Amino acid sequence: MAFTEDLDQRLLRLAQEEREDRWLLLQTAYTGSTRRQALYQLPAGARSRIADIGCGFGAAALEMAEHFQAEVEGFDQDRSRLEVARRLSTTFPEIGDRVRFTEKDVTRFLPDHPFDLVTARFVLQYLPALATLVHWRGWVKPGGSLYLEEVDDGWTVEYPGPPRAWQRIIDAYKAYTHDHGSDREIGRKLPHLLVQAGYHLTRVLWNSKSSLAIEQPSDLQVGFEREKILSLQRALVREGYVSGQEFQAGLTAFDGAYPKMTFLTGATIQIWATLPAESPSGIP
Ligand SMILES: C[S@@+](CC[C@H](N)C(=O)[O-])C[C@H]1O[C@@H](n2cnc3c(N)ncnc32)[C@H](O)[C@@H]1O
Repeated sequence: MAFTEDLDQRLLRLAQEEREDRWLLLQTAYTGSTRRQALYQLPAGARSRIADIGCGFGAAALEMAEHFQAEVEGFDQDRSRLEVARRLSTTFPEIGDRVRFTEKDVTRFLPDHPFDLVTARFVLQYLPALATLVHWRGWVKPGGSLYLEEVDDGWTVEYPGPPRAWQRIIDAYKAYTHDHGSDREIGRKLPHLLVQAGYHLTRVLWNSKSSLAIEQPSDLQVGFEREKILSLQRALVREGYVSGQEFQAGLTAFDGAYPKMTFLTGATIQIWATLPAESPSGIP
């Protein structure tokens, strides 16, 4: 079996076990082909040292190590995700030797030796973006590259939309994540932020995807959205964003809405940037 198929299947199998993080495992598996399409075009080779910031379960780190035959180090502050990443990497012994996973807060830590290529996918939305991008200059070698991929909820359209009771839960989820420092409209801001932080833009890609399809509750896309919101159910109720009854009503409405024919369009932004060779690394 090809490495990528094997990886996706292992992620799906892990999703059967891992309860709390099921949504991220499903998302990692679901987005496999688009992730690889972008990662495999990055400027790297067998001699590159690559860091994947906010590596989660380590899929991108493993994929880059396999594709480029490079040394890759994944960083995250979530210990249990890193444990899953390490477990996953031992199942690929020919790649695992070149991949390490390290627990760090990436807004504070600076590596002793900056990397040729630094990637960060769906991480910056949780962090103070400009200060973090400036800090990450210390992660990238002068002349080296930074690759980011991020979301923007303003680029998502679903028709017909979700049932009203579920929309209420989505709105509560968005309010909660916003109030807890998450920026779900970071995509549109990234080009400006990168320039402000002293990087040169090499390529900016608006990576859109549209479909008209009969959605089933068993679809990965449907499943991970549901799991993602469910993972915050207790916090949403505890902090008064919705009542327990409202949440249950939303869930019942959601589950009752499928199968449904939906037109869905959405996009992420993928950005390749470089740190100018003359630039001193670290905070200017
Ligand atoms: C949505 S996940 C994305 C994971 C992975 N990059 C992917 O594409 O599947 C965001 C990851 O960033 C990590 N993260 C967020 N803030 C962090 C910080 N300050 N230091 C290290 N990791 C952080 C989280 O623990 C989480 O694993």
